[in-house]
Amino acid sequence: MKEQLTMDKLSNHCKRTGFVFQGSEIYGGMGNTWDYGPLGIELKRNIKKYWWQKTVQESENSFGVDSSILMNPTVWKASGHVDSFSDPLMDCKECKTRHRADKLIEEYAHKKGIEVNADAMSKEELYAYIIEHGIKCPNCGKQNFTDIRNFNLMFETSRGVNEEKQNKIYLRPETAQGEYVNFLNVQRTTRAKLPFGIANIGKAFRNEITPGNFTFRTLEFEQMEHQLFCRDSEAMGFYEFYKQFAMDFFTFLGIKRENLRFKDHDKLAHYAKCACDVQYKFPWGFDEISGTHHRGTWDLSRHQEFSGKQMTYTDPFTNETFIPTVVEHTIGCDRFALCALCDAYDEEELENGETRIVMHFSPKLAPYKVAILPLQKQQSEKAKEVKKMLAKNFMVTFDESGSIGKRYRRQDEIGTPFCVTIDFDTLEDDTVTIRDRDTMKQDRIKISEIKNYLDEKLDL
Ligand code: GAP
Repeated sequence: MKEQLTMDKLSNHCKRTGFVFQGSEIYGGMGNTWDYGPLGIELKRNIKKYWWQKTVQESENSFGVDSSILMNPTVWKASGHVDSFSDPLMDCKECKTRHRADKLIEEYAHKKGIEVNADAMSKEELYAYIIEHGIKCPNCGKQNFTDIRNFNLMFETSRGVNEEKQNKIYLRPETAQGEYVNFLNVQRTTRAKLPFGIANIGKAFRNEITPGNFTFRTLEFEQMEHQLFCRDSEAMGFYEFYKQFAMDFFTFLGIKRENLRFKDHDKLAHYAKCACDVQYKFPWGFDEISGTHHRGTWDLSRHQEFSGKQMTYTDPFTNETFIPTVVEHTIGCDRFALCALCDAYDEEELENGETRIVMHFSPKLAPYKVAILPLQKQQSEKAKEVKKMLAKNFMVTFDESGSIGKRYRRQDEIGTPFCVTIDFDTLEDDTVTIRDRDTMKQDRIKISEIKNYLDEKLDL
């Protein structure tokens, strides 16, 4: 029977093949930080490319920005993050480790196979549940916790020319505020009429304390966020539209629909009127990968109040002036990458009794689209020519070491959809063997036909 995928197995695979490495590894690492290797970076670039294509390029009325990570600190006062962006934390008095109370409960419920909604619980309810159910510290196994306190998730840093004159600033915890503070700029320069959107991709930072689950919850991560500015009467329609948009985006990039579900929020963030996540079925259970939020006029109203600038829109037909309502759709790029890795990972038994690890990525997500494999050293030159030709259009990799069987296995385990083998006959008649990762079937085609063959099969 096939073994269940675990995060240990996946992270070992990612490290061995070059998707993800531990952050600062040679210094013993740093908790909740990861570095993407040559394959991981390509996976993430593909995710971002298609998100931009679907969100900006193919949209009727959306525009991009690339806003600063460091913002005027008043932005975070206005947005509510300084006062309300926190997690319920408790310390173990025995071993001094710190825990998120809601996560302790969720892990306990998952192990027991019971449904519990820790998200919707108050601090007091969380504490009572932990005591009542005898939930223990996962580090030392004792139950001796402090009270629950709210711990702000924003990373603070300072700017200033000398030590005395330093101002506290923050690393942004979401990219969305860069879209709100540029609402007037984008509207003015594009002359966009409502409804219109602003998209932003970039790093966000959160002082997360919950460890484990590989790259799921990290201190820094990339968000792909889109704010749709509209009339209030249209907002629920757009909310439903973007919920489905997120789900369709995951399946468009090959994530299996049966591993995805919608999950309405029970406890709303300080800015949200209603919110719904898409969750993926990770090895530890369903968990959030993206969200759609009806943010009302919260953000623009607050920025109007704190900046003194009119964050309004004047309808060119009715002359009515009002603060637009916002519907946000957000996907964590790193969470998408993790769900793509989990969804693609497979161990297949072959007819000869061997097992192959194969990453069944959608070709759109695969880091390399094709591998060029000269059978012997004599065909290396020809193989390099083919690589050079294809590299103008595709990410191509080249491998000339080891038996051809081993080389196929290496490409299978990084998810390369096609392998092109250059052999004796290639030098005679300019034909190659092209092998499909999933079916392992091979075709013999002319070198001049490879590009069209790949265009058709990959459908990028
Ligand atoms: N602008 C709204 C916002 O930031 P969020 O639900 O807090 O909403 C959006 O975050 C997405 O960012 C999440 O759905 C998740 O994919 C990703 N994300 C949030 N915190 C993360 C973390 N610590 N590590 C990795 N990804 C994270």
